[in-house]
Amino acid sequence: MTSELSLATVADSAPAVEAEDTKQGMLALGRYLRAADYRFVAVTPDTHQHYLKRMAARPVRDLRDIFGWSRAFREDQVSIETFRLMQQAGVLMRKGELWRSRVRWSSLGDLLCAHSAYPTDSADAVFFGPDTYRFARLIQSHLSDNAGSVRCAVDIGCGSGAGAMLVAGACPAAHVLALDINPQALRLAALNSELAGLSNIHTAQSNLLADVDGTFDLIIANPPYMMDSQERAYRHGGGKLGAGLSEQIVNTALERLAPGGSLVLYTGVAIVAGRDVFLEGLQQRLTNQPCDWHYEELDPDVFGEELLKPAYAEVERIAAVGLVLTLNR
Ligand SMILES: C[S@@+](CC[C@H](N)C(=O)[O-])C[C@H]1O[C@@H](n2cnc3c(N)ncnc32)[C@H](O)[C@@H]1O
Repeated sequence: MTSELSLATVADSAPAVEAEDTKQGMLALGRYLRAADYRFVAVTPDTHQHYLKRMAARPVRDLRDIFGWSRAFREDQVSIETFRLMQQAGVLMRKGELWRSRVRWSSLGDLLCAHSAYPTDSADAVFFGPDTYRFARLIQSHLSDNAGSVRCAVDIGCGSGAGAMLVAGACPAAHVLALDINPQALRLAALNSELAGLSNIHTAQSNLLADVDGTFDLIIANPPYMMDSQERAYRHGGGKLGAGLSEQIVNTALERLAPGGSLVLYTGVAIVAGRDVFLEGLQQRLTNQPCDWHYEELDPDVFGEELLKPAYAEVERIAAVGLVLTLNR
């Protein structure tokens, strides 16, 4: 296997033994970063771009430049050990005379999550960003009172597996399913879970919950909610103003939650002329449903740069919101 192969290429077309080698290589790289006390907080694409611009004339200094900021580097700017581990993990990508890492590693508390390098242009990019941190706070706040009642949980659109890992850690007796439509996300979610030593997470490919059976005590989701002209899986919410997947998740949860079970949904909503159309739809949909629910605006203004795009011509802001819905027993 050459280091030019992407993880996707390796897993899709190379013999199983090579895919296993790459996985072991990624685990070794993750353990190496943990041992080095590596930490990185993922920022918005705009902030990332500003930082890279500012740093362009300065030499690459450390592991955070390579695995957090996705900077290009010369082989002699990293230790022999770092370069060897990157080769074994299949994450080295040539950029002229330089190299870059195909993956980023970001911290979530004490967890370390591998996800796609900046910029996340490709259709199968694996997301992790400021939304993930807000989603994590919503999950942790719900679990602070409810962890004991969770036996079977599912993370819809798990991406790097961040949400599933928080649930699995807080509910060690629970079986946690991490689902995504993107196989690349499932590979990284499985890897990140193994790196964290969480054996109660199982990954599976599924369009929302359509390809798995059963009911759940806890459903968590941070689905795509943007109107993305490229329709990338990690960004494009579909439906009216990007709310399509979020609405489908509410409908699915009403069918697939066990009695007393909860949906913890983090999403973004387009506000038009002061109105939150997603909330208005929820009020209608949940009237006379056997459930209690709480809805909260978590951040009044996210992804402001999107408002420059034609699809957002009527939108005054995008808000990050949290919905916690609990079915009656
Ligand atoms: C915004 S990312 C969130 C990832 C992760 N949950 C997090 O918080 O970092 C949304 C994820 O949903 C996945 N996704 C999009 N449409 C989906 C669908 N119909 N069924 C399952 N997953 C889907 C994407 O592939 C992506 O990984």
